[in-house]
Amino acid sequence: MCGIVGYVGPRQAAALLMEGLKRLEYRGYDSSGIAVLNGQGLVVVKQSGKLSALEQQLTGRTPTGTVGIGHTRWATHGPPTTTNAHPHTDQSGKIAVIHNGIVENASAIRRVLEQRGHVMVSDTDTEVLAHLIGECYRGSLEEAVAEALREVDGAYGIAVISEDEPDVLVAARKGSPLLLGVGEGELFVASDASAILAHTRSVVYLDDGEMVVLTRSGYHVRDLAATRIEKPINQIEWDLATVERGGYAHFMLKEIFEQPDTVRDTLRGHLLEDEGSSRVSGLNLADDEIKQFNRIVITACGTSWHSALIGEYMLEELARIPVDVEYASEFRYRNPVVDERTLVIGISQSGETADTLAAIREAKRRGARTLGVVNVVGSTIAREVDGGIYLHAGPEVGVASTKAFTSQVIALALITLRFGRLRNLSILQGRQIIQALKALPEQIQDILDRAHQVEALAERYWRSNNALYLGRGVNFPVALEGALKLKEISYIHAEGYPAAEMKHGPIALIDENMPVMFIAPKDAVHGKIVSNMEEVRARGGQVIAIASDGDDLINRLAASTFTIPETLDLLTPILTIIPLQLFSYYVAVRRGCNVDQPRNLAKSVTVE
Ligand code: M6R
Repeated sequence: MCGIVGYVGPRQAAALLMEGLKRLEYRGYDSSGIAVLNGQGLVVVKQSGKLSALEQQLTGRTPTGTVGIGHTRWATHGPPTTTNAHPHTDQSGKIAVIHNGIVENASAIRRVLEQRGHVMVSDTDTEVLAHLIGECYRGSLEEAVAEALREVDGAYGIAVISEDEPDVLVAARKGSPLLLGVGEGELFVASDASAILAHTRSVVYLDDGEMVVLTRSGYHVRDLAATRIEKPINQIEWDLATVERGGYAHFMLKEIFEQPDTVRDTLRGHLLEDEGSSRVSGLNLADDEIKQFNRIVITACGTSWHSALIGEYMLEELARIPVDVEYASEFRYRNPVVDERTLVIGISQSGETADTLAAIREAKRRGARTLGVVNVVGSTIAREVDGGIYLHAGPEVGVASTKAFTSQVIALALITLRFGRLRNLSILQGRQIIQALKALPEQIQDILDRAHQVEALAERYWRSNNALYLGRGVNFPVALEGALKLKEISYIHAEGYPAAEMKHGPIALIDENMPVMFIAPKDAVHGKIVSNMEEVRARGGQVIAIASDGDDLINRLAASTFTIPETLDLLTPILTIIPLQLFSYYVAVRRGCNVDQPRNLAKSVTVE
């Protein structure tokens, strides 16, 4: 979604803001802008399109000044035009505001302000907020922002500067991520640590309802009612090299190839080999408490929802506990049956997805215990849940989630081991799972070493306009995930289905122009999926198969086959997904698509 960066210090702000915005580019945006206080007044430069367009605008006329704010916008109110780009100014033109989120009562506020003579030029809720802050200004920017935000419904992460207070930057958050960066004699605000990581690793995470006021002599955090809040300074563990491409053509490819390491990192320190179990102390759950749960709800969006479905198979099969998987966006607005004996697990790479966060809050309100399976350390979901497990997969920059998916499945396997051993799983079964988990990094590497075979497959099918992905059992969610990967980065229409469901409708689509990707490792439902493959062949469909090494039968049936090493049935998704990620990547590259920043998508969806 939108990216925010702000600076107060001795250095020229514009260059730092642009550098920060570049680091946020991966999150997806459609326009950008900066505002700088140059000693005489406020200079605002903004532009629709990519950041390079803003850079061009700035060439030869970069505003000087050491206090400023910068923004990349992902349109919610109004199209992605230059006028709608941030920063927006108030009626006086002296106050500039950047904003991530949605002001839900913007229309009502706009009406009142217009009746009082305010003239607004954009369609945005942010301009309304800027005018409201201007209306509240009586000599203190800090108080004006607090007063205005007390009137606002909805979500926001904002940063505000004013030419009447040239040494002050005020920022605030509610439902949209924001952190303060504490450097040597300089301060930053950002929606994402990667924007400021080149300058400091010391950060203060703001919580909902908090404001931070940055001046040249320091900062303070407060709430909207003016109560000061003491916040700890956290150290970010990863460095800039982790968020750079490191020789790969795209972040997505780099992240696909990182998976042997990221899977290892997610497993690290958690396996109890002798006991056939796992140690996940972050869950903050005693054995007795785990035994008390009579149901688990896993809630998530997108790719994380797909890993949740795999978690459902694992937990039900090995821990014998009923699991429901819910789209977070649906869960939050239903009247879900959740109580203190329900464990609600939220899965989120970013830890900032608005719907997942809201679903977790709803679950907590109803008395459920909540866990997070999260990648981004210090993110809002990670801080709000009762316990959880970090993926330690490192920053995921490509909009299409890859390494986070495999690490999420690993994390769910670790939770399953612990729960299973307290319920139904024998020590021998537990040890067998641990051995299989430990073998995965090398097996993934084996697949990656044959990436050229997948590239050849992509070369054969990249012109297709549609694709069907079919899987059964624990590989049904992999079919969904494979289809999602293909559609989001190559814009080919793709659907995932449980293979047997095909005959209840999608079979009508099958002809010689329809590639059908079967996820068919040698598992308990192998014979069944072979029958489904025959059905597709009988109708002229082009069968592509992801099969186990040495599966001659499937090799004979399919037009193209890619094989994976054997593992336990429940762990096959961690291997079957790798060729599907590569396939999407190579198809998208062949079609000339922008792999890392697909159209209309944002890395972290912080609005509803
Ligand atoms: O950060 P989250 O895991 O909560 O994000 C959820 C989805 O927005 C995300 O998985 C999305 O579907 C990706 N584009 C998938 O590649």
